[in-house]
Parts: sequence; structure tokens; C-alpha cells
Amino acid sequence: MTQRVALVTGAMGGLGTAICQELAKAGHKVVAAYYPAGDNKDQWLQEQAAAGYKDFIVVAGDVSDLSSVQAMMAEAEQKAGPIDILVNNAGITRDKMFAKMERDQWDAVINTNLTSLFNVTKQVAAKMAERGWGRIINISSINGVKGQAGQANYSAAKAGVIGFTKALAQELAAKGVTVNAIAPGYVATKMVMAIREDVLKGIVDSVPMKRLAKPEEIGFAVTFLASELSGFTTGATLNINGGLYYQ
Ligand code: CAA
Repeated sequence: MTQRVALVTGAMGGLGTAICQELAKAGHKVVAAYYPAGDNKDQWLQEQAAAGYKDFIVVAGDVSDLSSVQAMMAEAEQKAGPIDILVNNAGITRDKMFAKMERDQWDAVINTNLTSLFNVTKQVAAKMAERGWGRIINISSINGVKGQAGQANYSAAKAGVIGFTKALAQELAAKGVTVNAIAPGYVATKMVMAIREDVLKGIVDSVPMKRLAKPEEIGFAVTFLASELSGFTTGATLNINGGLYYQ
């Protein structure tokens, strides 16, 4: 297979780590982009090395800040070469019922989960098109598809991710660059484990498979969308949710 260079944002979170690992297993060179104020790079690298992943390249930046992203992506290219596969995975929650939601909670989620797609994708899309090959994979959420009480900010951002995906897919379709989204259901990560226990129990009960997704079950889907043979798949949203189809 052709070895490609993949960059994953939010790489050191639960989902990001699994995505990095699956892309590495698929033979790609992986750049793990992390948020320096929130992630412990050295500990993460040690854990990855202990698990057999010794070749991750790391770059730091704030995906919600365009100038930080410009510097981060330039560093990534300098360390790893041109980015062939971009996984826009970085995301946060600031859950509150809308009546109690403050503007800073809205802004934080929209900027980190949606505006980040402008900031990061802008650095690679035209170059992928020039080279005639690229894969852009955006992590949305079941809650961007169905909406979720307590997540007006997050649901809006994740629905926006799907709209962005469909629009950019059309713009790049003739250039060898595919753009797809994955809408995971509830995955066993820190983000989901932080949900109040009684609320989480209700969520798991509502999933036909009666369990959370394993992060690698999402990571594996990323490797499909990153592959050569996914070349006719674009503008799609892959729903991976244990059968939790929408109320
Ligand atoms: N629909 C409508 N109303 C609801 C509701 C629902 N699903 N859930 C709660 N409410 C109402 C309650 O009945 C209550 O109404 P009253 O005040 O009239 O009694 C009011 O909202 C407040 O409810 P809570 O007691 O839950 O309020 P809280 O402030 O303690 O908690 C919350 C609010 C933090 C948003 C909490 O409800 C919560 O955590 N909800 C889950 C949100 C969620 O699913 N987040 C997913 C995170 S994981 C993720 O995002 C990853 C991914 O992509 C899937």
C-alpha cells in the first residue's frame, strides 16, 4: 500500500488516540495534533510507546485559533511531509440546558467543534486538490443528527460539521479529494463517562446494543474513509451508534 501522512486533531483524547492507533495499524504515518493547555504530551507518548506505537509525530496548537493552527500545520508538514489525510476530531462539551447556557459556553463549543474545521481544513484542502488526492474525515456526532437536550451548542456544531462536509465534498469531488463525516453514538471515552451517572444509565439503556462503542470501533471506520478504495465515497455521514436510531 501507499503510505500516507495522516493528521488527527484532538489526538490525545479517547477517540483521537484510537484513531491514531488504527491509522498507524493501517500503515500510515500519523501526526498527533494536541492542545498544549489540556493534554499531557509526554505521558501520552510514553503510553503509546508502551502499547507498541513508537512513531507518532506530535504538534501542538489551539484548533479554535487560526494563527495557532497555521503555525501547527506548517510544523506538521515540515516534520512529516504534505498531509494526505486529515481527521478533524477535536471537540469539547459544555452541556447545559439552553435556559441556563451562557454565551461563553456556546462560543467555546462552536469555536472548538466547528470553526476549527475552517481553520484546519483551510491549511490542507487546496494542497490536496493540487496533488489530486486527499481524504478529509470530520467527526460529527449522533447528537448533531438527532439533537440532544442539554446540548444546543454541541448539537448545532456537530450538525454544522455535516453541512460543511457535504458542501466541501461537492467542491472537491472532481479533484480526487473526498470529504466525509462520521457520526458516532456514545463512545466509552472520558467525555461520555463525565455524564451524570443516572443520565448515562438512561443513555446506555436506550442503545439497542445496550453498550457504549469501543473507541477502536470508530477508529476503524476512519481507516475505511482514509483508504484508497473509499474513493467513490464522498459527502457521506457514517452513523456508528449501536442501532440508536433517532427518536
Ligand atoms: N428532554 C427535555 N427536558 C429534559 C431532558 C430531556 N432529555 N433532560 C432533562 N430535562 C429537563 C428536566 O426535566 C429538568 O426540568 P425541570 O427543571 O422543569 O424539572 C431540566 O431539564 C433540568 O434537568 P437536569 O436535572 O438534568 O439539569 P442539570 O442542570 O442537573 O443537568 C445537563 C443538565 C448537564 C444538561 C444534564 O441533563 C445532562 O448531562 N444531560 C445529558 C446531555 C448529554 O447527553 N450529553 C452528551 C455528552 S457525550 C457527547 O456529547 C458525545 C457524543 O457526541 C455523543
